[in-house]
Amino acid sequence: MSGKTENLLTVLNLQPVVPVLVVDDAASAVPLARALVAGGLKAIEITLRTPAALEAIRLVANEVEGAVAGAGTILNAAQFDQAVEAGSQFIVSPGTTRELLDVAAQSPVPLLPGAATASEAMALREQGYKVLKFFPAEQAGGAAYLKALSSPLAGTLFCPTGGISLANAKDYLSLPNVVCVGGSWVAPKELVMREDWAGITKLAAEAATLKN
Ligand code: 3PG
Repeated sequence: MSGKTENLLTVLNLQPVVPVLVVDDAASAVPLARALVAGGLKAIEITLRTPAALEAIRLVANEVEGAVAGAGTILNAAQFDQAVEAGSQFIVSPGTTRELLDVAAQSPVPLLPGAATASEAMALREQGYKVLKFFPAEQAGGAAYLKALSSPLAGTLFCPTGGISLANAKDYLSLPNVVCVGGSWVAPKELVMREDWAGITKLAAEAATLKN
């Protein structure tokens, strides 16, 4: 197993649930990340879907003790480089392109590439990837689909994301090929807007006790 894969697994094994954040205001990123870390969720994926995202990654990486800042929704090489420059310690993409594989190959920062089918997972195995994001998990077939891949694609691990909540997270976490799940439910927009950081710590703590 490569050092990069080991590093990625170390991050993903920190907790059963990786929060997937869409940060509208960079000023909320630090208290939000602190609230998640206080609840036991250290690895935090900040998606590049808002103009505030890169600044949010920078702030979390520099100012939140105990947090491991990662970037999500990385679609191309330029975003990959920007996210690394901002301090991301892991990079997540919803799918996979040649461009992303090429930039990732040149970087010390690990990529968790997206796959939703057996063929996509097989193509990534050929490139040496052992840990993949299964996206969009619920819509692509859910835990039953992922379970069906576990025997033929033995040795490949997944972090399913998309449509996962406290209600169905265990269905995934009980599978042998799941390392953790990702989800936005631990940081609901209403709580962020109300600056209800204690409420977010409570949701994070609940998620952190799920078993992986
Ligand atoms: C995403 O990229 O949006 C993540 O998969 C989060 O999905 P969720 O909002 O359904 O948890």
